[in-house]
Amino acid sequence: KADVRESLYLVSEFASTYFQKILHKTDIGKAVGLSYFKERGFTEDTIKKFNLGYAPDEWQAFTNEALKKGYRLEFLEQTGLTIVKGEKQFDRFKGRVMFPIQSMSGRVLGFGGRILGNDKKAAKYLNSPESDLYHKSKVLYGIFHAKQSIAKEDNCYLVEGYTDVIQFHQRGIKNVVSSSGTALTPEQIRLINRLTKNITVLFDGDAAGLRASLRGIDLILEQGMNVKVCTFPEGDDPDSFAKNNTLSEITTYLDDKSQDFIQFKASLLAQESKNDPIKKAETIRDIVNSIAKIPDRIKTEIYIQECARIMDISEAVLFSTLAQINKKEN
Ligand code: CTP
Ligand code: MN
Ligand code: MN
Ligand code: MN
Ligand code: MN
Repeated sequence: KADVRESLYLVSEFASTYFQKILHKTDIGKAVGLSYFKERGFTEDTIKKFNLGYAPDEWQAFTNEALKKGYRLEFLEQTGLTIVKGEKQFDRFKGRVMFPIQSMSGRVLGFGGRILGNDKKAAKYLNSPESDLYHKSKVLYGIFHAKQSIAKEDNCYLVEGYTDVIQFHQRGIKNVVSSSGTALTPEQIRLINRLTKNITVLFDGDAAGLRASLRGIDLILEQGMNVKVCTFPEGDDPDSFAKNNTLSEITTYLDDKSQDFIQFKASLLAQESKNDPIKKAETIRDIVNSIAKIPDRIKTEIYIQECARIMDISEAVLFSTLAQINKKEN
């Protein structure tokens, strides 16, 4: 089993080298892939640092090369890099710019591949399937390059996508990782928890994901971590914002706009349910549910006071709601 995993690593690392070679050394790679990354504002250094690559728009270019080099088909198939249909073999990633996903120690676990441009018909990103090597619920994109800064800054920025991580890095903010569009998992939070107790979640300014993400943040509170959130202007995400602003503008924005998660959620929900008593009742239960996840009793007490003020309701009601929730959970 350990031998199989090692073989999958070797195949993945070969693929990463191959995609980089295509990007930097071939005419098509340079014309299509490299120019795409440059248009997004990535420098040559950044592109190399993150081992970005290009998968040619051909049916079997990668698979043929790998087989020629002696990599076994069964391992190519297990990583999902090759799709086997009967006697035929196809490359999974075709005509996409490639983002290798690295483990905490820098080994290649899998890939995200992005189409060029904004064709709505194809999935924007295609990712490696689950395998013995790649468990998407257990990896954080960027963790290898971020781990030192996370410990040093004693804070971790959590963003939605690959390019958010890369653009922040290029601007000099290195304590940043991405859950790559999936709901945050306890395993992913534990990876961060080993390095810092402080997370700042940065939301794309499209509001769509915000609601769904609020729930996932309770998982961070459950692990006893401090959570701040920061939203970006409508239409911006951390990538575009960082691309269009200087480092000092970005850090000023982050410092000004980052807000304690419980306060943020309480204010948001209070506003939404202002004129609706039934909704307000639901809202209060929702926010107390979040507070109930916090292991530290002193923090709990402080948050109850804060929320009572924000939601304009007595502390006593909130404390008794908290007691009810705790009783149900035990
Ligand atoms: N994602 C995915 N599959 C999709 C869309 C998104 O896996 N079809 C993941 C990717 O990891 C992506 C993240 O969700 O980076 C965030 O999605 P989104 O904000 O839509 O993409 P961006 O990262 O902003 O991508 P880009 O700037 O390249 O459009
Ligand atoms: Mn496994
Ligand atoms: Mn988004
Ligand atoms: Mn985005
Ligand atoms: Mn984006």
